[in-house]
This record gives sequence, C-alpha cells and structure tokens, in this order.
Amino acid sequence: GVADKGTYRHFMLKEIFEQPAVIADTLEGRISNGRVLESCFGFEAPAVLDAVQQVHIVACGTSFHAGMVARYWLEEQGVPCSVEVASEYRYRRPVIAPGTLFVSISQSGETADTLAALRSAKAAGCLSSLAICNVPESSLVRESALTLMTRAGREIGVASTKAFTTQLVALRLLAIVLGRRRGLAAEQEAALVAALEHLPRQVEEALGLNDAVEAMAQFFGEKEHALFLGRGSEYPVAMEGALKLKEISYIHAEAYAAGELKHGPLALVDANMPVVCVIPDNALVEKVISNLQEVRARGGELFLFADSGVASHFSEGTHLLQVGHVDDSIAPVVFTVPLQLLAYHVAVLKGTDVDQPRNLAKSVTVE
Ligand code: G6P
Repeated sequence: GVADKGTYRHFMLKEIFEQPAVIADTLEGRISNGRVLESCFGFEAPAVLDAVQQVHIVACGTSFHAGMVARYWLEEQGVPCSVEVASEYRYRRPVIAPGTLFVSISQSGETADTLAALRSAKAAGCLSSLAICNVPESSLVRESALTLMTRAGREIGVASTKAFTTQLVALRLLAIVLGRRRGLAAEQEAALVAALEHLPRQVEEALGLNDAVEAMAQFFGEKEHALFLGRGSEYPVAMEGALKLKEISYIHAEAYAAGELKHGPLALVDANMPVVCVIPDNALVEKVISNLQEVRARGGELFLFADSGVASHFSEGTHLLQVGHVDDSIAPVVFTVPLQLLAYHVAVLKGTDVDQPRNLAKSVTVE
C-alpha cells in the first residue's frame, strides 16, 4: 500500500514508535514454553547449527552495529565470533576455518558489499550461510542457505530504526540456539526467553521518555560535536546512537568504548562537547561511573540514560533520564530507543530532512 505517516510528522518517528509491535512480530512463533524454536532458521537449521564452530558476521552501517552487539552475546555463549564491515571483509582474505557460519545482516538484503561478502565466503568454503534480513524476496535471502527474517515491515526513513532493533532480537535467538549446544541450561534459556517476552513492554516504556528526550535535544541544537560512550554490549549501542545523530542532524558524533576515553578523546572534552552515555545495570557500572567522573572533572556536560537500578549513582549536575530496570540480555535493544529519539529531535530542531538526509541512500546497491 501507499506509505502513510499517520499522525506522525516523519516516517522515522512513526517507525521508532512501531518498535514494540514489530519486536513482538519478530518473536511470534519463534519462542514457546521458555524455548527458542530453532526451526525458525529454516528446515535444515538444526544439523547446520550442530556443526558450527565459529561465526563470521558481516554487514554495513546500522546492520553492522547489530552484529557488533551480537558478538558480545555469542561470546557469552562460548561461540567464537568476528564482526566486520562488508566493504573490508570482501577484499580481505579472511581465514575461514572449518565450521564457520557466515552471518549477514541487512535490512534490504540488497547492499552490494554485503552480497559480495556472502559470495566470497561461500566461494571460500564456509560451512553455511545465514541471512538476517527484512526483505523476504531479496538477493541476500535467495543466496543464503538459512534465513531468519526480521519482521520490521517496510522501513522508509533512511536512518534505520526498527530494522535495527528487530535484528537484535533475531541475533538474540541465534545466540540462544548456539548457546544451547555449549551448555546453556534449560532454565537459563527460559530466563533469556522471558526477557525477550518482556521486551515489547520495556521498549514501550522507553518510548515514554519521548517528551523528556525532546527537551534534552535543546542542548544539542547549537553543538558541532558530540561524544557517545558505552561499555560492553552498550558500546555498539553508543556507536549506533552516534551514527543516528550524524546521519540526520549532521552533527559530528563519535562513539568510544568508555574505557578508551583516556587514550585520546578525553583531550576533546570541554563545555562544548556534550557526552552521551548509556548505563545499564551490569557488572561494568562502577567502571562506567569512574569514566564519567573523568569527563565531569574536565568540564564535560553529561547526558545520561541509565537503568533505574543504578541512576542513584549519578549526582546532580548531569542530564539524567531513567529507563526502567532492564535485564542485561536485552539492554542494548531498550537503550537504543532513547538515542534514536535524541537524534530525531535534534534533527527536527535543526530543520533537516529527517527521512531523507542529504547524500545518503536507503539501500546502497552499487559499490
Ligand atoms: C545504508 C542505509 C543505512 C543501512 C546501511 C546498510 O547506508 O542508509 O541505514 O544501515 O545502508 O543497509 P542494509 O539494508 O544492508 O541493512
């Protein structure tokens, strides 16, 4: 049908708000009784998954960031994993050891570099290929042995939002089915599945921050740069937040692993460099706190999105928004939402063409 913005001012905002529904759609029929149904990866999936010894994830842009998150999840399950942008992978000579599952991630399934990377991995003899993709009839899906469709629906905003969070959901399922073969116990799997079941409601709650994020966006209107920080699986979330801001507001934004701050970017910190950080309630929180103290000590202005369980650690003098308490296994999905909203509201404030930012294409089908 004809694309319709409904009551939303832009497709991007509409798509951000669709996330609870499309995440639920992406889970539909794939989890049941505390288990992931691995037939969702395709008929021949169980035998292939049995033989997987490591995973190569390849993607571009926002989809690459989903892959970066997945590496934390796969390694947690004992699965060796590398993640790379397709434009590099395709021209390197990656060592494809026996048992390598090649995983491509793509909203469109037509990104030229990602397709070329798939073809070169197949030629080099990978065990099998899995496409995590949003378009069923796409080239990537046709050329991959296994597929797991995200069910984000048509995404019109050039800056990807709902495709990203549904990719994360699909990758969570992959981590579980591979983990199961490496000692993930049934009750642990059930806990991970329960966290996924809560996800639509938690994303809905995060969307409740919309007005507060819009107010926060005022502070970015005049800025030329911004630094995004995260640690662990929130490091790629910070990368995605920075990408969103770059793409649609044209503010130069850079993401750093918070622990790397002292090796360079700290030199940039002053009152003109807003520092955005996402802070889940996990084992790294004390480390993040000390990273942020370094920023404060240099006069940096902090914009924090924190789990309600840790928010009390942050003193006055910061801009702090709380998301609810979020299970660590799904935190990257929930923390992405306020960063999408931040980029959106800054772009609206700056008057850019939010849905069609200059110089960018929705899908890059030529090299
Ligand atoms: C373009 C789009 C991005 C997207 C990237 C990869 O650069 O503007 O939003 O993340 O391509 O696209 P894909 O369809 O492969 O996910």
